[in-house]
Amino acid sequence: MLVALLPGDGIGPEIIAEARRVLEALDLGLGFEEAPVGGSAYKAQGHPLPPRTLDLARRADAILFGAVGDPDCDRLERHLRPEQAILGLRKELGLFANLRPARLFDELLDASALRPEVIRGTDLVIVRELNGDVYFGEKAMRTTADGLREGYDVMSYNEAEVRRIARVGFETARARGGRLCSVDKANVLETSQLWRDVVTEVAAEYPDVALSHMLVDSAAMQLVRDPRQFDVIVTGNLFGDILSDQASMCVGSIGLLPSAALNDAQKGLYEPIHGSAPDIAGQGKANPLATILSAAMMLRYSLAMPEPADRIEAAVAKALAGGARTADLGGTLTAARMTDAVLAAL
Ligand code: NAD
Ligand code: IPM
Ligand code: MN
Repeated sequence: MLVALLPGDGIGPEIIAEARRVLEALDLGLGFEEAPVGGSAYKAQGHPLPPRTLDLARRADAILFGAVGDPDCDRLERHLRPEQAILGLRKELGLFANLRPARLFDELLDASALRPEVIRGTDLVIVRELNGDVYFGEKAMRTTADGLREGYDVMSYNEAEVRRIARVGFETARARGGRLCSVDKANVLETSQLWRDVVTEVAAEYPDVALSHMLVDSAAMQLVRDPRQFDVIVTGNLFGDILSDQASMCVGSIGLLPSAALNDAQKGLYEPIHGSAPDIAGQGKANPLATILSAAMMLRYSLAMPEPADRIEAAVAKALAGGARTADLGGTLTAARMTDAVLAAL
């Protein structure tokens, strides 16, 4: 099995190196090939997603991705910006289904900015659509007839796109607690009205799953009022992006949330939900657990190795139970020492 390692920018290379140590320690016979992506690829090769990187991503059995984003690149033409690399990979490989689980490790009850009694028992999955929405609609900056600068981004979904992600939501709920909450803004957006209509139609195929609908503004509030009420949330690309960062606070830190981006063939790209964290890059401070847990998801979903995936997750829980904490969790461990704690638990 070939794993493509795409470290990227900022803390990306730091966390990918730690996840690789964990995978190598398991001795699973995986092959690794690395390629540049994001701002570092732009600086070295003139493009954030060079053809050879895309080719490796296509050839590999699975992709482990760090993060992209570099303040030096924020004024580049949009198609050359680091973020286009991850958007391009998602689109080129048809990775439309993004699973973002947020489960609280009991040991971290006190690590969150939220009160322990609010977050106790948090265990939810956000199923985020990843190939459509306002991310991929027509967009531009132009000057109006009155000489005003104007930016626009078109938001749209067609029914086939909604249907396929709705099915992933229902299947995910069926395999868990049997409850699916679809989040939209149907009171204002036509895109969301279609979303709600189609999700409701698909529900007929899943009589065993309890479907509810929630408006996104209310969902943002409910997520921090009582996260336990959620089992699986299915939502569009933009709302899912925002709600998943918010959900990370229900489990202690954004440095903990892994993700899988899957296509119809279970080909997957695995990455932490956080970004390149330029504010802490190069200091050894990054929490590597989101990436290590993403590697576990990779073993489970794309490489058919559920047993080592379970072992990684158990080792992370054990390391945390033993008191291992990076700075984002109120501790002092570097990324390397945190990984040492996971390896010791393995
Ligand atoms: P960010 O997620 O990079 O950082 C937000 C805050 O969380 C920062 O204070 C950071 O230090 C902290 N943080 C993030 N990951 C952490 C970790 N593993 N351990 C400890 N602390 C961590 O979001 P941002 O600052 O808004 O964005 C920075 C750059 O990352 C931008 O260029 C953005 O476009 C990019 N980005 C990329 C991805 C991706 O590659 N998939 C995702 C999100 C943001
Ligand atoms: C994420 C990120 C990306 C997104 C950016 C970097 C394009 O925020 O993976 O959550 O918005 O999808
Ligand atoms: Mn995001």
